[in-house]
Amino acid sequence: MTDWKRTKNCGELRKEDVGSTVTLNGWVNRRRDFGQLIFVDLRDRSGLVQIVFDPEVLGAEQFQEAASLRSEYVISVQGKVLARPEGLENPNLATGEVEVQVERLVVLAEAKTPPFPIDKAEEVDETVRLKYRYLHLRSRELQEALALRHRITAAVRSFLNGQGFLEVETPMLIRSTPEGARDYVVPSRVHPGSFYALPQSPQLFKQLLMIGGLERYYQIARCFRDEDLRSERQPEFTQIDVEMSFVDREDVMNMMEAMIVHVLKEVKGIEITSPIPRLSYQEAMDRFGSDKPDTRFAMEICDVTTELSGSEFRVFSETAAAQGVIRGINVKGGASFTRRQIDLLSEQAQGFGAKGLIWLALEEGQVRSPIAKFLKEEELEVIAKTFNAEAGDLILMVAGGYELVCDVLGRLRLSLGKQLGLIDEEAYNLLWVVDWPLLVYDEDAGRYVAAHHPFTAPLDEDEHLLETEPGRVRAKAYDMVLNGVELGGGSIRITNRRLQERMFAALGFTMEEARRQFGYFLEAFEYGAPPHGGIAFGLDRLVMLLAKRQSIRDVIAFPKTVSASDLMIEAPAPISEAQLRELKINLRN
Ligand code: AMO
Repeated sequence: MTDWKRTKNCGELRKEDVGSTVTLNGWVNRRRDFGQLIFVDLRDRSGLVQIVFDPEVLGAEQFQEAASLRSEYVISVQGKVLARPEGLENPNLATGEVEVQVERLVVLAEAKTPPFPIDKAEEVDETVRLKYRYLHLRSRELQEALALRHRITAAVRSFLNGQGFLEVETPMLIRSTPEGARDYVVPSRVHPGSFYALPQSPQLFKQLLMIGGLERYYQIARCFRDEDLRSERQPEFTQIDVEMSFVDREDVMNMMEAMIVHVLKEVKGIEITSPIPRLSYQEAMDRFGSDKPDTRFAMEICDVTTELSGSEFRVFSETAAAQGVIRGINVKGGASFTRRQIDLLSEQAQGFGAKGLIWLALEEGQVRSPIAKFLKEEELEVIAKTFNAEAGDLILMVAGGYELVCDVLGRLRLSLGKQLGLIDEEAYNLLWVVDWPLLVYDEDAGRYVAAHHPFTAPLDEDEHLLETEPGRVRAKAYDMVLNGVELGGGSIRITNRRLQERMFAALGFTMEEARRQFGYFLEAFEYGAPPHGGIAFGLDRLVMLLAKRQSIRDVIAFPKTVSASDLMIEAPAPISEAQLRELKINLRN
């Protein structure tokens, strides 16, 4: 019996179909029983349509069956498409002008009462939704998100295929390397006591593909990182991973910018003016207090260190004397904040690590501030001028070390931007952050570590500082930022052996130690490595931003919780004694 098979999708039916006979398959979304008539919203992937069961048309037996339908039963119905009576159309539904008068019903599967109505899934606790992910997947939000994800990957592939890139897969079972995040490891049965690691990214392999002469590579690559999770991080996530040979920074950035512009246009009709803005890392930190600035609103950071270095207010003069900075933001119209609101901002700033928050409310003819009495008239004037402030504005200032002040003001700025509704939710602000530091000093390790990874090349003009002032060397690295989220990052790689040795020395290890960790990789460079560079974009993050969702869990079919668990399949889970024995693993208590 195959006469239950659909001839149309539910969501496709329109006025033009009136009069035709159709067979529909789908789930009972909702049933409304009016005794004489039963209405059901039938749902399949394409959408919903109203179907009507009338005993006059169906006969008593089939009507009885219709009366026993429950939410999420899977059914097939055959019937005639009718125009809905005038005044009873549903303008909120694409199929709202029609309904289907059922002539035959086949129940394909019964269903237990689901733990939540599918169209109310977002209202229940996320743990319940994740346990019954297959039910949540039936919802419109998730179906739309996954369809968008599919269109994005399709657009990426079509763009890169058109540019001569080859899609190549790289291994999942690899060797653990010490740099970067923590690895997920997999024990080997054949080699007891030895472990594979799951790749944090295909980084080394894609560079080896360049040495292997593939020239243009991409992969929609799954990556695994055992790190602390947040709303924009998952323990396994997907990258759009790219590497190119015989290129410099401009080539990679131009190609990738064109790809993202193409994807945004293709899947969302968003027009981005290219070239997108470029900010140096320094400028991003100075102006926005962040290496991934959200430029959808202004409220830029201003510096008044020089102007206030001789201030009678000790916090200012002492900060300046200690090589610190005095910076702040101007909250337009913020002078009307209540004392309570300002106290909350202070608490927030302290929560971010500031010693305190200094505030000045500019009012007509006077400045209201706990420190007003310490400031001279000229100092107040220069502050107002630097912050471009006028009566009604609130200036918030933080004094301290450069990094801390940037971070506190950057976070305060973002929080105020959201709170005051300054963010244009329709905007798509793309930008590049370039000229990153090559090395950052790690207090815990007591040495410099690679800001990106140890194979990232320094800027030619900074190379000579590698031994003398490592902290000042900038890298041929670039990040793309969309609406304040780091979308992707990459770099031009070191291909010169001497430079690689100097880089390892700057990181505090000898070539022999480096060889122990990356031996095969360094050896490959001795057989003719082309100049190359690449980038990786976070696919989940890209989909999240385009789907306007708050979490990447909303755009992954089967995501994990913040504690890296899958609540549906109950992973991770203990393995059997027999498996452990086979792997020759003893568990420590
Ligand atoms: P990076 O570590 O910056 O670079 O990662 C590239 C992009 O991947 C995304 N991303 C994540 N998304 C979700 N969950 C996570 N846990 C997570 N971690 C990273 C981000 C990020 O910008 N091999 C280099 C790239 C290169 O140099 O070519 C790399 O992996 O969007």
